[in-house]
Amino acid sequence: MAERSGSTADIRIGPVTPANRALVTALQLAPEQMDFVASNAASLREARSDRDARPRAVMAGDQIVGFLMYEAPRDDDEARIYRFMIDRASQGRGYGKGALREVLEEIDGLGHIRHVSICYEPENEAARQLYRSAGFVEQGLDEDGEMIADLILPTGDR
Ligand SMILES: CC(C)(COP(=O)(O)OP(=O)(O)OC[C@H]1O[C@@H](n2cnc3c(N)ncnc32)[C@H](O)[C@@H]1OP(=O)(O)O)[C@@H](O)C(=O)NCCC(=O)NCCS
Repeated sequence: MAERSGSTADIRIGPVTPANRALVTALQLAPEQMDFVASNAASLREARSDRDARPRAVMAGDQIVGFLMYEAPRDDDEARIYRFMIDRASQGRGYGKGALREVLEEIDGLGHIRHVSICYEPENEAARQLYRSAGFVEQGLDEDGEMIADLILPTGDR
């Protein structure tokens, strides 16, 4: 019983630091998932030259189990989550759901964001179900053929 750590309540997100960076870049996807999201190493390289990028490690207890990245520019009311992954060995335990809850809470706490967009390959059923269950509504395909979904934050009376 003590070994079980599958509760979404255990999930937190935090900054990627020199101390956890190697653990984040070592996270893996199943081969058939690799086209769904850029590698974490590539995303972290990209973040170095993009001041708006907010990379986050996903932690279950003290273990790094995933990675996500979003932007929420100060002069905009829209945030965009554009990287999201849970290590293949840790999928299916509610960690994706927990990480999404945490990042939406962090974004809401910024105070200037009214809605959040996210995009995914139309054939990515796990992503579609995950985002739909959090309230994201599909808007249609963008010019690259990716599905865009949008969530209005519930505290939308700012
Ligand atoms: C999408 C992803 C982040 C989900 O993470 P996860 O930790 O496995 O998801 P959870 O266990 O929290 O499941 C949350 C919901 O996602 C959906 N889901 C997860 N895996 C699924 C699958 N294989 N098929 C269909 N739906 C699935 C379900 O709706 C599930 O809710 P439920 O268990 O109440 O039915 C993970 O599969 C992943 O990293 N995929 C590869 C990268 C990717 O596609 N990223 C998203 C695009 S940017």
